[in-house]
Amino acid sequence: MNRGSLIEEVKRLKQERNAIILGHNYMDMDVQLVADFTGDSYDLALRAMETKADVIVFAGVRFMAEQAKALNYDREVLSPDLNAGCTIADALDRETLREYRERYPRAPVVLYVNSNVDVKAMADYIVTSSTAVKVVKKIPSDVVIFGPDYNLATYVERMTGKRIIKVPPNGKCIVHGNYVPGYVKDARARYPGAKVMIHPEAPLNVIDLADFVGSTNQMIEFARNSEAREFIVGTEIGMINALKLKVPGKEFYPLTTEPIARCPFMAMITLEKVYRSLRDSIYRVEMPRSMAEAVKEAFERTRKLLGD
Ligand code: 13P
Ligand code: SF4
Repeated sequence: MNRGSLIEEVKRLKQERNAIILGHNYMDMDVQLVADFTGDSYDLALRAMETKADVIVFAGVRFMAEQAKALNYDREVLSPDLNAGCTIADALDRETLREYRERYPRAPVVLYVNSNVDVKAMADYIVTSSTAVKVVKKIPSDVVIFGPDYNLATYVERMTGKRIIKVPPNGKCIVHGNYVPGYVKDARARYPGAKVMIHPEAPLNVIDLADFVGSTNQMIEFARNSEAREFIVGTEIGMINALKLKVPGKEFYPLTTEPIARCPFMAMITLEKVYRSLRDSIYRVEMPRSMAEAVKEAFERTRKLLGD
């Protein structure tokens, strides 16, 4: 089927099945064009929780689809490709987290949403890149266990002044975790005057060179409200699609065009697979109800703390 027919078929199937497509800001342009909502991890989790649609197709990596299922258990949640993992999520298992819990029994466990669902079910609080600093500031404890992203943990440590026990000590994003200060220096030389936006999954020595640090939705807001016309995008390269759609009339340049700028897991989610997913109800995201309830409880506790 050609691209135009695929797009038409996806739209028809959405209506027929009372389905919605939630797409992460990093998706290919075609996937963003058929999505009902695109956004960052926090925004999409809220959309998933609120929807009354019968079917949710989650165009993003697996932990995001799992989060949607945990928050809205009675819907059919589909992941176009269950192999779409995440190096941060895969860095932490239940056994390791249990050991940290035993070693620091009084420290609350704060998990980044980029965690596999069985591990996330052990969290006291669940945060995203847009909420992590705010949440840790509000938690009534000066010491917290935080994982699995090491860089986000160090950023939270700096911004809150609290003691952050990092679990594991080496969880990294395959994209942001490989950023180096030279990328920012080269990009500034290529595009003088452009504002540099960096995701908090990047190392602190890269963050130090940014004009703005935030989640993908926060980058959209920053670009929209800034007087600047040009921006260097220090996050996964698919983000440029979201910025072009949501902030028309401004210019966006990649921080680097090296292959590491594209997340291989996000890239697994193609228009063709979204179509197959809707057509054949594949792949259903499943988990025990008790696991989903534990995740939802931690997420709700976090929202309450935020006053959301
Ligand atoms: P946000 O969209 O929440 O900023 O997350 C980025 C990310 O790396 C998701 O994989
Ligand atoms: Fe995980 Fe990084 Fe890919 Fe996001 S971009 S899914 S954090 S590996």
